Amino acid sequence: MSRAALRVSLLLPLLLLPALGRASSKSDNDQKHGGEGSPHSPGKGHSHWSYEDREHWDTDYPDCGGTMQSPINVDTARTIFSPDLRPIQLSGYSLPANEKLVLKNNGHTVVLELPESLAITGGYAQQYRAVQLHLHWGSLLAPGSEHTVDGRRFGAEIHVVHYNTKYDSFKEAMVRPDGLAVLGAFLEVGPSENPYYQEILEHLYEIEGVGQQTLVSGFNIAGLLPDNLKLYFHYNGSLTTPPCYQTVKWTIFNQTMKLSRDQMSILVNSLRTDDSDLLQNNYRPVQDLHGRWVLASFQTTLPSQKHTPGSDGSAATAEGHSSSFHAGDVLAVLFGVLFAVTALAFLLYIYKHRSQNARLDSPTKSKVIYTAASTENTA
Ligand SMILES: *[C@@H]1O[C@H](CO)[C@@H](O)[C@H](O)[C@H]1NC(C)=O
Ligand SMILES: *[C@@H]1O[C@H](CO)[C@@H](O)[C@H](O)[C@H]1NC(C)=O
Ligand SMILES: [Zn+2]
Repeated sequence: MSRAALRVSLLLPLLLLPALGRASSKSDNDQKHGGEGSPHSPGKGHSHWSYEDREHWDTDYPDCGGTMQSPINVDTARTIFSPDLRPIQLSGYSLPANEKLVLKNNGHTVVLELPESLAITGGYAQQYRAVQLHLHWGSLLAPGSEHTVDGRRFGAEIHVVHYNTKYDSFKEAMVRPDGLAVLGAFLEVGPSENPYYQEILEHLYEIEGVGQQTLVSGFNIAGLLPDNLKLYFHYNGSLTTPPCYQTVKWTIFNQTMKLSRDQMSILVNSLRTDDSDLLQNNYRPVQDLHGRWVLASFQTTLPSQKHTPGSDGSAATAEGHSSSFHAGDVLAVLFGVLFAVTALAFLLYIYKHRSQNARLDSPTKSKVIYTAASTENTA
């Protein structure tokens, strides 16, 4: 093999690397934004923003155009397994029935105000106090979670908002890089009624209008979150509504919550907006990662599973996987061949070089090398 051929075979993998990078970042952006927004007129009065207007949020709220925005799609194959992510620990979440909580329709969602006795005491490096929880949902026709996992959107999503106890108030914390921690979980339709969600859902008819509020008796708020608080994804992001401050350390649980079909219907069909339309599809589309990392507290795939895309259940997931697996396999074969050619060329080169040098080798030469090494050792 000639020198030129050798050089080409060594350079080819390097030339291909940028193309590989482009291919993988493109697949990140290929998100489907289906089922968003109903075609009614933009909201007026009361609040300054609406979901119809979400492409222009950054005009009034510049952070909404930032590079650490939420929600995101969690691509499980690209998460980084981090064994040091400890289980989330909640304290003070079980409230007595005589403690009354305010439940309110704020025009964008239903908010349950939480007493400061609720806290995250484990799983994060610092302590966080709860402020409120709220939900995001779709409609009877389409799911409406904010985050997606492997391109899949879930029925609805709960957010429990906390602020770092090193700050005096939520307001002060929300503008600090380490100010907020939000726990998120997905809601799906399951076979039976969920008694914890019922504590909230049974009051929605009382707060149909924007600005209306009611009182809810205390219950075990932890029942609104999964039993398994060990399995979750973690990333740095933002509030998903204006002002979109990039101050949220997100936890997205891997276990989902189950509501009955009737309960899901009540959630998506009760509250109204300013225009007295139904408040539906109150979720923001997924945002670009801009190179951020998503950590996982658990191993998302066993190495052997990565190459059997057909084996993992739902159509949506399989569809999302198959194209990237094909591209990956082609590249793997390509690199394998290139590596073999390069290795062969290298061996030939060494072999040729040796037979040339063999004639030049002399006792004098090896003596010179030996002397140099020993000088170095004593220095
Ligand atoms: C989130 O941001 C903090 C502070 O900049 C950084 O130390 C941490 O590694 C980031 N976490 C992730 C998952 O990137
Ligand atoms: C939970 O993790 C598994 C394994 O990676 C993944 O297939 C599934 O989509 C995840 N579900 C959620 C809701 O995170
Ligand atoms: Zn939210």
